[in-house]
Amino acid sequence: MRTIAYRFPAELSSILHIVWGELEDAVKDRTHGFHTGSLATLDEGGDPDNRVCTLRRVERDERLLMTHADIRAPKAMQVLARMRGQSRMPAAWVFYDAGRRLQVRAKGTMHVERDTRLVDEQWERTSVVSRRCYVAPHAPGTVTSELHVNIEPALRDRRPEMEETLAGRANFCVLVTRVDELDAMELAADGHRRAGFVWADGEVRGEWRAP
Ligand SMILES: Cc1cc2nc3c(=O)[nH]c(=O)nc-3n(C[C@H](O)[C@H](O)[C@H](O)COP(=O)(O)O)c2cc1C
Repeated sequence: MRTIAYRFPAELSSILHIVWGELEDAVKDRTHGFHTGSLATLDEGGDPDNRVCTLRRVERDERLLMTHADIRAPKAMQVLARMRGQSRMPAAWVFYDAGRRLQVRAKGTMHVERDTRLVDEQWERTSVVSRRCYVAPHAPGTVTSELHVNIEPALRDRRPEMEETLAGRANFCVLVTRVDELDAMELAADGHRRAGFVWADGEVRGEWRAP
């Protein structure tokens, strides 16, 4: 693990720049602590639910954090149900990178995309091995009568041919979180450093927060 001590600079704008940069780097770098994060949403009953998801794409100008999912997965269905009811899903991510001693929390709202160019792009970037998940016989979370890895038996022990993965495109979706608030905290023995950023009315407001 690489230790990278930032010593958060005294300018809030520099910290915001650092945070988006780390999130962008984490998409490409599997060893980055932010490559996966905990993503919280609300279930049908309004109770909080969270799970680890992989950060697949970041658009800093639009404040978007994206992950891939099977549209049959409960979280995706829940987001879809809200969209049909004309509402957005509240969503919260938390990331921690131990080497950088950096925690980032992001709050916002989530929507799901299935048939957009963005989803096509993400599907193209998805390896054939990862695509196996989307041709899984069962919806994620389905109760099975015995232990089941949910990969087609014929694909389990080998790299699938491209053609064999194409059926997975119908189940593939992108969960897009639009960030309204970021909270960043850097741990340090001589005192942690923490900053918050809130977007409202087209503007971002940065503030120092006691750690
Ligand atoms: C390291 C790791 C990365 C994961 N990445 C994803 C992901 O990018 N997308 C996803 O839908 N599930 C991912 N999962 C699985 C989820 O944590 C979860 O078990 C699954 O998506 C079902 O969630 P749901 O029932 O809330 O829909 C990952 C799990 C782990 C342990």
